[in-house]
Amino acid sequence: MARLSPANVGIAEEIISRYPRPKSALIPLLHLAQEQDGYIADDAMEHLAELVGITPAEVLGTCSFYEMFKREPVGQYLVNVCTNISCLLVGGEELLHHLEQRLGIHAGSTTPDGVFTLEDVECIAACTEAPCLQVNYRYHHQVTPEAADALLDDLRAGRRATEIPKHGVLARVRQQIPAEQRAGNAVPGQSEEPVWLRTAAAGNGDGGQGS
Ligand code: FES
Repeated sequence: MARLSPANVGIAEEIISRYPRPKSALIPLLHLAQEQDGYIADDAMEHLAELVGITPAEVLGTCSFYEMFKREPVGQYLVNVCTNISCLLVGGEELLHHLEQRLGIHAGSTTPDGVFTLEDVECIAACTEAPCLQVNYRYHHQVTPEAADALLDDLRAGRRATEIPKHGVLARVRQQIPAEQRAGNAVPGQSEEPVWLRTAAAGNGDGGQGS
């Protein structure tokens, strides 16, 4: 699958409605596409371009800027092991090698069943908790090889499904915003005021900022 599913199109339309300009929704829409397929395919970028009224090249320009957006398939669980200095000093590299052996892959690749992608990463800003890793960008601190094994077992068995969703992103693409608090789309050149501003101005006559 690459284009958004009908269910995700509904979510995308809700996301777009939060912004004064459809294209302002591009980042959360990219997260949504990645959550669906685990990466952002060319077809998905074309679909997003249609939804927000820009060119696929503009979508690619944004997508390719951010390292967290993947343009090649990755596993359901992206395991990032830090081997920078603090982690290196207390076993980060040994932890990475342990996981390579356990998964039967080298860092930078994906298990044949598509469940795990293993990456060797630079500092992930949890140096006081070294050695550490992330799974789908959720932190795990002071990880021993035994704890890493238990974590992989839990993930395979689905025991962490709520805490660590497959292909899960951290962006809150599913947050619910009441209709009256959404920005509403304005056609460029026809109105520079978002809907909430016009509504507030009409409602209290205080210049639109409310209280
Ligand atoms: S060196 Fe590993 S988190 Fe900073």
